[in-house]
Amino acid sequence: MLHWPFVARLVIAVDGPSGAGKGTVARTAARALGYRHVDTGAMYRAVAWRALDRGVALDALDAVAAVAAAAAFDLADGVVRIDGHDVTHAIRTPEMDRAATLVARNPAVRDVLVARQRTLGAGGGVVMEGRDIGTVVFPQADVKIYLDASPEERARRRAADPAHTSSRTSDVAHVAEDLAARDKSDSTRSVAPLIRAADAIYIDTTGLPIADVVEQVLELVRDKAAAKG
Ligand code: DC
Repeated sequence: MLHWPFVARLVIAVDGPSGAGKGTVARTAARALGYRHVDTGAMYRAVAWRALDRGVALDALDAVAAVAAAAAFDLADGVVRIDGHDVTHAIRTPEMDRAATLVARNPAVRDVLVARQRTLGAGGGVVMEGRDIGTVVFPQADVKIYLDASPEERARRRAADPAHTSSRTSDVAHVAEDLAARDKSDSTRSVAPLIRAADAIYIDTTGLPIADVVEQVLELVRDKAAAKG
């Protein structure tokens, strides 16, 4: 993969619903640019996992926020660790999908994680993916991408995703139901709902090879880097 001789250390925000291709696109683009990839959804998932691990009920808002505030995250190289526990696989189950969606509605947790995410991206040279990166975490991001795909395609991709472990995930109809419920929660919650930033570039990835989407993103980054000098 091409590594550009980059001096620019830009902040690239990639937002959109589950199954839109954010993970693959953000990871591949970050690798091509020599940038850091930060999956913020994994942080919400890890907090949910750690709260349950410590016997904290997910509706105990302050207690869950305390878990987040005390947590040590390690997100290097596609491995997700929280407080020393490798949760890379444990956080990708339908149960953790639902638990993370609950945790992501907790305003106090969001305050904690948004602050961590700003620190992670402070020096630039980062591709950060999530739901509120271009709207809340980095409203001044150099490049903002909003990825989307049809509900059917998103459900198909999620069902085929080997990172998601469960017999249920092979059942596209169930996955579609779960996705619809989580999308509704993510886009109607009162804090940092999933919305497209007015200045985000919208890419509908339905039927597109991921490599084409990555190429579009890299082109946008190249243009921005050239404009910045
Ligand atoms: O992208 P994901 O499915 O791993 O995200 C897990 C949950 O966290 C999902 O309900 C969306 C939510 N989330 C969020 O609210 N804000 C983010 N920046 C990232 C994820």
